[in-house]
Amino acid sequence: MEDFETYFQQLIINEEGGIRFYSFDSKKYSNTGVALKKSMPVFYNPIQEFNRSITLIAYKAFQHISESDRNFEILKICDSMAASGIRSIRLFKFLKKPIQIMANDLNPLALKVIQKNIELNSELVSLSDIELFNQDARFLFEDLHNKRIYQNIIDIDPFGTPNIFIESAIKAVNINGLIGITATDTAVLFGVRPSACIRKYNIKSLRSSFLKEVGLRILLYYSASRAHPYMNYIEPMLSFSSDHYIRIFIRIHKGKTGINKNLRNSGYIFWCRKCDWRRSIGMDLHEASFSCPICQSKLDYGGPLWIGSLNNSEYVTECIKTLEDSEKSVIPSKKKILKILNMISFEDKFPPGYFDLHKICDMLNISVAKKTELILESIRNLGYDAARTHIEPRAIKSNVPIERLKSLLIDFHQKNII
Ligand SMILES: C[S@@+](CC[C@H](N)C(=O)[O-])C[C@H]1O[C@@H](n2cnc3c(N)ncnc32)[C@H](O)[C@@H]1O
Repeated sequence: MEDFETYFQQLIINEEGGIRFYSFDSKKYSNTGVALKKSMPVFYNPIQEFNRSITLIAYKAFQHISESDRNFEILKICDSMAASGIRSIRLFKFLKKPIQIMANDLNPLALKVIQKNIELNSELVSLSDIELFNQDARFLFEDLHNKRIYQNIIDIDPFGTPNIFIESAIKAVNINGLIGITATDTAVLFGVRPSACIRKYNIKSLRSSFLKEVGLRILLYYSASRAHPYMNYIEPMLSFSSDHYIRIFIRIHKGKTGINKNLRNSGYIFWCRKCDWRRSIGMDLHEASFSCPICQSKLDYGGPLWIGSLNNSEYVTECIKTLEDSEKSVIPSKKKILKILNMISFEDKFPPGYFDLHKICDMLNISVAKKTELILESIRNLGYDAARTHIEPRAIKSNVPIERLKSLLIDFHQKNII
């Protein structure tokens, strides 16, 4: 206890989304202003406000769409890696009551800080609204499964890979429940560390021109593969990439028909390093060719991964509505989230893989095309469809063949439209 008291002297009062809370001073534990040092006694990263705010929106939108299901009276949430507890307290304030939150963390000091933060916000929340647990999240999930205390929502927000938590979380969530999963092991998922990806996910990564989307697809396929042995399947509700992490929200359902549907959404992506041609293909590789149909180079590939939709469009619309009805004082990054959700709502109608316009211009050795809106319009005039992607500001999603896109960019360059 004395040790805790020494640590407590270092706590400062912070504010996020209208909640005052104790945390350690992130400035003292960061060289870059982004990543925090492991020596920080209890994690709190102000930059992750965006992650927490979009999570509040995603869970409230889930509450709305589940109202008609009437499959729960009290919304049960497990914040399995709660750290300072700010996510749990903000969720408790933001979501429609009645709700019951389990705030868990492996770090015992975190629990002490969460307790202090609940006491600091005693006019809003009590220890009977947010129950505290100090366990390895995997054991907590298994325990919940064994006791049949299924949760409607589980939040997984680890340091690094979430791989070891997903299977037990799937067992602890209600059928039709939602799991939010953060992954910060982007070097692994984006193909920079291919052998680590095989080791951690049993999947061949692909360091392509659209590597961040591949990362999302790997995490989704991996989650589906953990669900299938329990006769469960996943429904991707919302997936995004931001700064140094990716995050997916998946719903868990039951049944063989759905598993088969998941398997039809699983497969491989083939990609030509030389000309940027790409194609997705299902799990059956009998018809696959490893030769690029445009330049005959040997194709690279990644998988198995998720080749279906990354989002549920009705749910994304519900998230947008929820966000529009929310105050900026409660959702500080409201503007940024709105921009991202609006882009996401158009992304799913296109085939896997975005086109990075800078990389294509580099490949063609022409000046970099900056007038993205004009390029999108020209693609549409050619009879194809195109939209921006939230993943890369300089990239677009489109069903235009790569050769047509290249001729268009060359034409822009020759006419000096840059
Ligand atoms: C990135 S922080 C979570 C941040 C928090 N969700 C927030 O929004 O501020 C990761 C947390 O997971 C905790 N943790 C690490 N391994 C764990 C495990 N196996 N089970 C439960 N918690 C764990 C760490 O102590 C740390 O507090």
